[in-house]
Amino acid sequence: MKKNSLLLLVDDVPQNIQVLGAILKNQGYSFALTTSGKETYELLEKVTPDIILLDVMLPDSDGFSICENLKKTEATADIPVLFLTAKNDTHDKVKGFQVGAVDYITKPFEELEVIERVKNHLQAKLDRDQIKKHNKELEGIVEQRTNELLKKERETILAQFIQGVVHNIRGPISSALAALDLIQAMRDELNRKIDAGISKVELKVQLADVWEILELNNEVLRKMAGNLESMLRKSRTDQIQEHDVYDLNELINQELEFLDVDLKFKNQVTKTINLSNHKLPVFVSQGDIAQVFENLIKNAMDAMHKTSNPKIIIESGSANEFHWFSIQDSGSGIPADIINKIFDPFFTTKPLKSDPTQLNPEPIGTGIGLQFCKRTIVANNGKIEVESEPNQGAKFTIFLPAYH
Ligand SMILES: Nc1ncnc2c1ncn2[C@@H]1O[C@H](COP(=O)(O)OP(=O)(O)OP(=O)(O)O)[C@@H](O)[C@H]1O
Ligand SMILES: [Mg+2]
Repeated sequence: MKKNSLLLLVDDVPQNIQVLGAILKNQGYSFALTTSGKETYELLEKVTPDIILLDVMLPDSDGFSICENLKKTEATADIPVLFLTAKNDTHDKVKGFQVGAVDYITKPFEELEVIERVKNHLQAKLDRDQIKKHNKELEGIVEQRTNELLKKERETILAQFIQGVVHNIRGPISSALAALDLIQAMRDELNRKIDAGISKVELKVQLADVWEILELNNEVLRKMAGNLESMLRKSRTDQIQEHDVYDLNELINQELEFLDVDLKFKNQVTKTINLSNHKLPVFVSQGDIAQVFENLIKNAMDAMHKTSNPKIIIESGSANEFHWFSIQDSGSGIPADIINKIFDPFFTTKPLKSDPTQLNPEPIGTGIGLQFCKRTIVANNGKIEVESEPNQGAKFTIFLPAYH
């Protein structure tokens, strides 16, 4: 401890410097010396001592205002300051504490007192530094782990997305193929009838049937092309992370269109969409909002996993310089004793794995969805609120600053 820690002694009285210097040297401490306020500030630009012993009276300023300044400056605020005060000067001792000192050392110096006080405060400072360092390391680990999980999450979403695309295209393609089979069969029949001498009127009727089937096929193909277009747009906007001005209503509509690749969301959930009639301009990254929206919908769907009549209400509006949107579900709701924890990283009530052979497998979770949502929304100067009554489902509302 003594070898690596640095003390700063601020005093201009040669006798004090001599006595204190000798005591500290005997203890094996390294120390720097300054004799004025100006010198002290200059030195602190270059080095950060572990403890400062500060005299009350200096030629260019008093120790109290120096201490006050150090406490106000982020780089020096954590350095413990001990004042050098006269033994009977209660006023100076009290004033020292008021401006942020941790302790005082009285003059004339008592060697043992100096040694003990310096040792204790130095140790306390080093302990605090150690804790800070550990906390930083832990934060780093949490961040790294969160990023890994987010990556995995995105890979899962990608896999689901591809499944959705396949589902969405397989249906229309099969019906288009079936229609073509039918037309082929009709062609054979028509050829037979033409050979047998079909009337003009009958020919027209037969052809009208063919045109009708072709028209239907056209419709199916157009819809499919539209779906593909929307999915492509979505996959592009997912990569766009730049901020721009968007109408919140438009973002919601695009997301809803995209979410229709989830057939359960598309067909089995009653959706009530109640968007504001006004434009709701916000300055955001489209990909961010899309991910927040998807996380909230995914949570709502998970919460309605066992609900017989699943319902989702999506609304938007404006209030007090904010534009907002909300997603409300009719699922299991959030118990009061966990509602304060749901935004914590890795807090989840869902299993990490479920049995995929089950017909309706339990929804799984890692507990990063809401923490991601909160972080993203707060980074956009917005806020996220939750309301939930037991067994009445949950409602999440996202507020974003209105863009003018
Ligand atoms: N709409 C909701 N209804 C009921 N409970 C919810 C709802 N949304 C979130 N929760 C609760 O909050 C917890 C944390 O949600 P969060 O989205 O952070 O993680 P997760 O959904 O469990 O896992 P992940 O999102 O990482 O897959 C959930 O496990 C669930 O208990
Ligand atoms: Mg979630």
